[in-house]
Amino acid sequence: MSDEGSQKILLGVSGGIAAYKTPELVRRLVERCAAVQVVMTAAAASFVTPLSLQAVSGRPVRTALLAPEAEAGMDHIALARWADHILLAPATAHLIARLAHGLADDLLTTLVLATTAPVSIAPAMNQQMWQHPATAANVQVLARRGCRLLGPADGEQACGETGPGRMLEPAEIAAALLPGPSAQPKSALANVPVLITAGPTREAIDPVRYVGNRSSGKMGYALAAALARAGARVTLVSGPSALPCPVSVTRVRAESAADMHAAVMDRIADCAIFVAAAAVADYRPADPMPTKLKKDADSLTLKLVRNPDILTAVAALPDKPFTVGFAAETDAVEAMARAKLERKGLDMIAANEVGGAVGGFEADDNALLVLWPGGRRALPLQPKPALATALTQLIAERYAASASG
Ligand code: PMT
Repeated sequence: MSDEGSQKILLGVSGGIAAYKTPELVRRLVERCAAVQVVMTAAAASFVTPLSLQAVSGRPVRTALLAPEAEAGMDHIALARWADHILLAPATAHLIARLAHGLADDLLTTLVLATTAPVSIAPAMNQQMWQHPATAANVQVLARRGCRLLGPADGEQACGETGPGRMLEPAEIAAALLPGPSAQPKSALANVPVLITAGPTREAIDPVRYVGNRSSGKMGYALAAALARAGARVTLVSGPSALPCPVSVTRVRAESAADMHAAVMDRIADCAIFVAAAAVADYRPADPMPTKLKKDADSLTLKLVRNPDILTAVAALPDKPFTVGFAAETDAVEAMARAKLERKGLDMIAANEVGGAVGGFEADDNALLVLWPGGRRALPLQPKPALATALTQLIAERYAASASG
């Protein structure tokens, strides 16, 4: 992912109840054009999941000091050098004490020792702990070393007590760290209503069996999250998937292609952009059984009938939204995708090669070849959240061009 032109903020999250506010904090920082890399302490994961923070930051969250995979990519020293600023929020009494004593017993404290970047601390703890002489002394040590203190605020606390120790609100922290009236990005997707499909569909054979496919939903969910981060109002129509709903996205569940078709058609009139990332079954069993099929016969013939093509139906609407399809191809990827773009009357299509050793269905990484009338761009193999961010930028550019032309 390119960080060009962004303030690179390394957000260190420690284990306090205020950690639940950190997805919101990441969003507020990203709104101010920051690139955010989250590093969590082990205790922080009890209050907020790495997956949520990955979804909003668009980057895998780092937790372990000695993780061979992560160290091969960006080791802890490179991470310390990458940051323009280190923000510790929430900073618990324990984290503040460890920093004051120069401990380096996990990734976050090691990074703080290894960096030359300015460090800001947003404390969050019980008011008695904040006022304890030990904490006060530790905070003074950090302040003398040049750490900037953001808060804490005074007020009612999660523990029921009242006093100083509340973490500042995410918007206040973001504004203090990245001030400036023009900080809000001018996103072409700001407040734009987007409808996106993701995941597989299941076509019932009988009450317990179905015809399905290998889609996990990872690509479509990552794209829904990236579109939301870009300011769009996103509704995700999802086939069966175990993934959590991305932050700031409204999810509608659908089981079969017919369910998904109905869910999309019910909502499409309110949308300016439609993205079809779901792997929708092209066919369904003609006569699903009302009771479980018995295995009496030696062979079984299943008659399948065509499902509605949701993408084609949307693109054929008289007042169609800006319509983005996907194409999953095993061969002749560009030619097949270009044919789909033209045949279905789409504004854009994102083609991926499936069935190979890397990328496509179920994988964490993917590559896309994005085509539109008169243009193309190849987005190389990378984690799906980063790829989704790149595709979102492209959608924003083409959508803005279509709206102005
Ligand atoms: O979910 P993951 O495991 O992360 O995998 C991601 C993915 C490979 C599923 C995703 O990147 C992808 O390619 N999604 C589209 C899969 C697909 O159905 O491709 P297709 O070439 O068969 O269909 C073309 C387009 O028509 C797609 O936008 C599809 O959503 C749409 N379609 C297809 C059939 C149908 N009945 N209705 C549709 O809307």
